[in-house]
Order: sequence, then C-alpha cells, then structure tokens
Amino acid sequence: MARTQVGIVGAGPSGLLLSHLLEELGIHSVVLENRTQEYVIARVRAGVLEHGVVDVLRAAGLAQRVEAEGLVHEGIELRFNGHGHRIAMSDLAGGRTITVYGQNKLVEDLIAARATSGGTLLYEVSDVSLHNLDTTRPTIRYRHDGREESFECDVVAGCDGFHGVSRASIPEGCLTEYERVYPFGWLGILAEVAPSTNELIYAYHDRGFALHSLRSPSVSRLYLQVAAGDDLTGWSDDRIWSELQQRLASDDGWALQEGPVIEKGIAPLRSFVAEPMRYGRLFLAGDAAHIVPPTGAKGLNLAVADVVVLAHVIADYYATGSETGFDRYSAACLKRVWQGERFSWMMTSMLHRFPDEGEFVRRLQLAQLEQVVSSRAAATALAESYVGLPIL
Ligand code: APR
Ligand code: PHB
Repeated sequence: MARTQVGIVGAGPSGLLLSHLLEELGIHSVVLENRTQEYVIARVRAGVLEHGVVDVLRAAGLAQRVEAEGLVHEGIELRFNGHGHRIAMSDLAGGRTITVYGQNKLVEDLIAARATSGGTLLYEVSDVSLHNLDTTRPTIRYRHDGREESFECDVVAGCDGFHGVSRASIPEGCLTEYERVYPFGWLGILAEVAPSTNELIYAYHDRGFALHSLRSPSVSRLYLQVAAGDDLTGWSDDRIWSELQQRLASDDGWALQEGPVIEKGIAPLRSFVAEPMRYGRLFLAGDAAHIVPPTGAKGLNLAVADVVVLAHVIADYYATGSETGFDRYSAACLKRVWQGERFSWMMTSMLHRFPDEGEFVRRLQLAQLEQVVSSRAAATALAESYVGLPIL
C-alpha cells in the first residue's frame, strides 16, 4: 500500500498551512480536499490576523503579500448610543497590531506556496474514510478521478472543518462536545466602495449589531445581525444599506458611503469545542475541533495556532521517536482555544440584541460597554485578547 508520513484531510487554512509547515521541517504530507480549488479560494470568510499569526506567516516565508496588501490596524471603535469610542489597542497591548487581510487571499497564498514546493494536494476527492486510527499505522481511503485509492501514514490531521469526516470518525464516547448556538446569524456583504472608516467599527444598536470592516482601499466588508434562520430573499441591497445606515449612525457627522454589493451571504453563529482534540493518531485542528462566533474574528487565528503546535509535535516525534509531544497536543491547544471561546462569547454577548432577553440585559450590555470605554483596565483586557497571545 502507498505510504506517506502525514495525511491531511481538508485544504482550508488549517490543512494548507500545516502541509507547508511540515514541508519546511522536511516532513512529507498529502492533502485531500473534497471541493475544487476555485471553490476553496472563492469562499469569503473573516479577515483579521492577529499579530502572532502574521509572525508565524513571516517565519514560514509566507508573508510577502500580507505585508504588501494587508491593512495594519492599531485600534478599533465601539459605537453605541449613537456615539463612537476608540479602543487604542496597540497602546494598550504592548504595541501589538492586527492585520486586516481577507482569508481567501491567505488561502491563495498558501496554495501558491504548496504549488511551488511541489507537495501533493488533491482536489475533488470524495468518500474519504479513516481507518486504524488507534494503531501506529492509520489508513486513509478515498475516491479520486473515479478510482478507489488509499494510503498508510503515521499521523492523520483532521483539518476538514466543522462538517468534515475526521471528528465524525472518532468512536462514540471518546469526545466531549460543548456547544452554544446563538439565536441570530450574520448577514455579510462585500461592497465596491471605499471604506467609510480607517478602523473596524463594532456597533451595538437597538435594531441589532452591525460591523463595518474593510478589505482594501476600494472594497468594504459589512455585517448585520439578522434573525436565526433568515435567508437572503428578504434582504434586498436597499434594505441592507438602510439597516446599516440606521445601526451605524453616529452623532458626529460621520456618514456611511454606499456602493454596489458584489457578494452577500448569511451564516449562523455558534460556539463549539470538542475535547480532546486527538484520538489515537488522529489530530483535529481548526474548525474540525472548535467553532467561535465571528465577533472578534478568532476562528482563523485559533486554527493557525493549532497547526503550529501540531507541526511541532509531529516534528518532535520524527526527531525522537517519542510520543510525548502527541500526548501534549490537545491540552496545549485547548488552553488557547478556551481563551478564544471566552473572548468571542463575551464580544457576542456584549454587542448583540438577544430576542428573548428584555430591558435588564440591554442595560447590562450598555453598562459593560461603558466600562470598556471608560476603564483603562477593562479596555486593556479587551485589547490584549483582540490582538492575541504570541504563538511562536
Ligand atoms: N473530505 C475532504 N475535505 C473535506 C471534507 C471531507 N470529508 N469535509 C470538509 N472538507 C474540506 C472543506 O471543503 C474545506 O476546504 O475541509 C476544508 C476545511 O476548511 P475550513 O472549514 O476553512 O476550516 P479550517 O481550515 O480549520 O479553517 C478555519 O476557516 O471556517 C473558517 O472561520 C473559520 O477562519 C476559520 C478557518
Ligand atoms: C471581517 O473583516 O470579515 C471581520 C472583521 C472582524 C470580525 C469579523 C469579521 O469580528
């Protein structure tokens, strides 16, 4: 049977970056992806990279385009009661910054790096199944180009997202899952219009949350809280802009510029963690193991931190033959994951209208926002979480 060192399921940011980090360490991997390359690149997702994530990309020789095109931000704005308040993130968090850079650009960069290194990356693979995970010789079976294929490996990396096959391959009773589904979703648009702001605006409003983000000097990214289960049929471009205008309105003469909507979609909000992030020789990373709601943009950053740890413990195994690194993997990742979960849940809880909660919760949310914008200690706590802990 064919053999490789590491079998990676999924070519999202987790699987692609892991394959690159392993290649740099001289470890061979095969990546199996069930979609097409075009689909993987076109998927529009969040776009905020923590300081430490940019450091990881730079150290891996992957930061050329992020450094040229990424927008480095030193603050964010919290807007409520029609008034904006700047959180001076970098000043509060030791000079660390965030970089706004669309996840799909990062995926493009990672695919380009993979092509240059000549590593194996197969698209449109179907029926991936994982076997013998509790032995030292796990096997992956799949269909590609109409043929049944399989290979043996030392390690399987489950990088196939929340709906993938990896987590589902772990026997019942071996995982504990923690979950919260929020009673609302986010409608996101890309618009061809210069951003009306230099820094991200997170707005709390009686009509619901809104976020003004950006992608480039000529493309804006905006989001609205919508009811759970809402679909796009009720959301004409006019209605979206009208809602954004109301929720982002401010008392200082600021105006939201409108432009053609070039992409729109609705996503549900969920918090989820599966523990441990390992079963035998299968290691879960990124969305396969945990999901955060997008408020605070931690999803991609947690995924990068996981695969950095995974690449290290795999390299450790090949260098020493010892599995102690494997035994450390899950706990090492989960420490950061729960910090990300806590922060994303806190930002989500503070900034959204909860349909079943009344005036009491609304007043608490406003009190929390007041505290964050008036207490240096509270603002510092938010800023430190937002820019993220060092990874390397
Ligand atoms: N076989 C092969 N590939 C699969 C399978 C399967 N059975 N199931 C899913 N995949 C692929 C998906 O098509 C996708 O390309 O796995 C990939 C998983 O990628 P992501 O969902 O992007 O997850 P991850 O790489 O962990 O990235 C986490 O992406 O979802 C965002 O907000 C999240 O920013 C975070 C980041
Ligand atoms: C984005 O730019 O897509 C974005 C920014 C901040 C978030 C979520 C998404 O909290």
